[in-house]
Amino acid sequence: MAIRKIAQLGHPVLRQRAREVDRDELASAATQRFIDDLIETMRDASGAGLAAIQVYEPVRICAIEVGDNPRYPYKPRIPLTVLVNPVLTPVGDERFDNYEGCLSVPNLRGVVSRATHLHVRAWDRDGNEIDEIVHGLKAGTYQHEVDHLDGVLFVDRVTDPRTLTTWTEFDRHHKDAFVARITELVARVGS
Ligand code: NI
Repeated sequence: MAIRKIAQLGHPVLRQRAREVDRDELASAATQRFIDDLIETMRDASGAGLAAIQVYEPVRICAIEVGDNPRYPYKPRIPLTVLVNPVLTPVGDERFDNYEGCLSVPNLRGVVSRATHLHVRAWDRDGNEIDEIVHGLKAGTYQHEVDHLDGVLFVDRVTDPRTLTTWTEFDRHHKDAFVARITELVARVGS
């Protein structure tokens, strides 16, 4: 396995639409090694998720995992999940305001509106069907990662630029209110 370089805001690769992966390509040794690298790179950077396009591979694959993550100590855990060719559909109209950051957008966070309930269809790394409903922060993370596969970054979706903040100022001025709000959401809808 290898740690890959993560593309940063402004690199054109982040603005591409990633292409679908077929079953033969997914099963290949090269793609399976790539998925190992994607996971290793996500963990090394303490990310909650990482899309292939962020490591310069424009294919529709992303990894998501929240353990004891120092970047996001308030986040409920998400077991390691690899989504291949994911298709997301909001369930109902409810939305919530999520404070997001991104490994490709250094030292910036901002408030993004996300669907609270989400139907997820995808393959896992072995080509098995994933068909599930996710909620709350987990749904927000899925939407952030799948946006990457369409060349969309969270900064594109920040409706009020005045919410933009560095990580230090987030911790100082915004974190307590956000954690209180998000804790209420997680208690109500799960994750
Ligand atoms: Ni991101």
